[in-house]
Amino acid sequence: MTNRTDWVARSLKSVWHPCTQMQHHGRDNDPVPLIPVSHGRGAWLYDHDGRRYLDAISSWWVNLFGHANPRINGALRDQLDKLEHAMLAGFTHEPVIELSERLAALTNHALGHAFYASDGASAVEIALKMSFHSWRNRGQSAKQEFVCLQGSYHGETIGALAVTDVALFKDAYGPLLRATQTVMSPDARQAKDGETAQDVARRAAADVQALFERKADQIAAIIIEPLVQCAAGMAMHDPLYLQLVRELCDRHGVHLILDEIAVGCGRTGTFFACEQAGIWPDFITLSKGISGGYLPLSLVLTKEAIYQAFYSAEVTRGFLHSHSYTGNPLACRAALATLDIFAEDDVLVKNRERAAKLTAALAPFAEHKRVKNLRQRGMIWAFDATDVDNTFSRRFFANATRSELLLRPIGGTVYLMPPYILDDGEIAGLAERTYAVFEQTLAGA
Ligand SMILES: Cc1ncc(COP(=O)(O)O)c(C=O)c1O
Repeated sequence: MTNRTDWVARSLKSVWHPCTQMQHHGRDNDPVPLIPVSHGRGAWLYDHDGRRYLDAISSWWVNLFGHANPRINGALRDQLDKLEHAMLAGFTHEPVIELSERLAALTNHALGHAFYASDGASAVEIALKMSFHSWRNRGQSAKQEFVCLQGSYHGETIGALAVTDVALFKDAYGPLLRATQTVMSPDARQAKDGETAQDVARRAAADVQALFERKADQIAAIIIEPLVQCAAGMAMHDPLYLQLVRELCDRHGVHLILDEIAVGCGRTGTFFACEQAGIWPDFITLSKGISGGYLPLSLVLTKEAIYQAFYSAEVTRGFLHSHSYTGNPLACRAALATLDIFAEDDVLVKNRERAAKLTAALAPFAEHKRVKNLRQRGMIWAFDATDVDNTFSRRFFANATRSELLLRPIGGTVYLMPPYILDDGEIAGLAERTYAVFEQTLAGA
């Protein structure tokens, strides 16, 4: 029987793992752990030695209702016997139609015309291309530039990376990327003495205003991760920022793209994060949680006016973008089962109770001398560890795995982004173990 060690060796030989310096897994001294998962149940992942790990970051923020969820499994089994895939040009099918209708309804029909892809980065590419092309179709071809926020993250493909502002991921590819305008992040941690989060939001919006006043005629769109810039280290901002930027976009004729890939699907407390600002963007990108964390599925929702800019007798005015697996029926069916769970289990309301319990359980961190900026929005919690070196995240991850936890800090920021199913025991255990792992990591282990 293949054991844990064999699986690791085979993986290191044959699989090039994402976002990883592979040498760190292979080195003799202090290797980064690689955990061969054999199966998942609920919030837990199990390895080949039977050890378990509470998936406290929802496997890169995708899993909403646990692993091997019986309801999503059932829907997929049913779909498998009907239709696994059919191309979406010239053909259509029930799962993609129903999903598109239900997503439009979730925006109160402010947005619709769902355009599908597989990964988040592809949805970002689509939104950028659609924005530029819709201006072009309207005779405003000079609008070619995009604006992003400091610390933004929108994915790793060339277009998405151009509107990403994380040096570690971006710098090596600088020569390949389109120049982008980067504006101040509204990250509330930047509050100066006496400033509120809303003051920071106003300052950041003023930066956008100055840029728009100078060159809105050359700008197609601004792209924002609403409420929480996750990859930047769970940088949270006040909803006022989104209201102010929406007004500026309207005034200056610039599209607003809200990237809800990480923060959508209830993660921040409402189904779409932008609902908390009472605004709708011109484009929403969605992925990750929409398929319940089961299958790669991403999409862009947009407004009628944008759709109409492409609707024409001329082929070249159409949006001639495609991916082979666009609107895959299995992925759409997983998404429909996910939306069913939201509706049937009153998930957003239950999450408020769950969130209150985990917030209470994490209260001891507020008193910790090495903790700054303990913060929470919806089902995301984060704090910044002070005076830690650049081995902190790696050591924390390794210590966490030994304490039955899957947690991967971003630099010195420890965050929790669990699935929406934790029971009281799991909540208490998660908080206690996170505290113990934090202490252990600070102590140098
Ligand atoms: C806000 C945001 N946009 C886009 C992406 C890219 O999604 P994917 O990794 O599926 O390409 C991510 C991934 O973490 C994200 O957090």
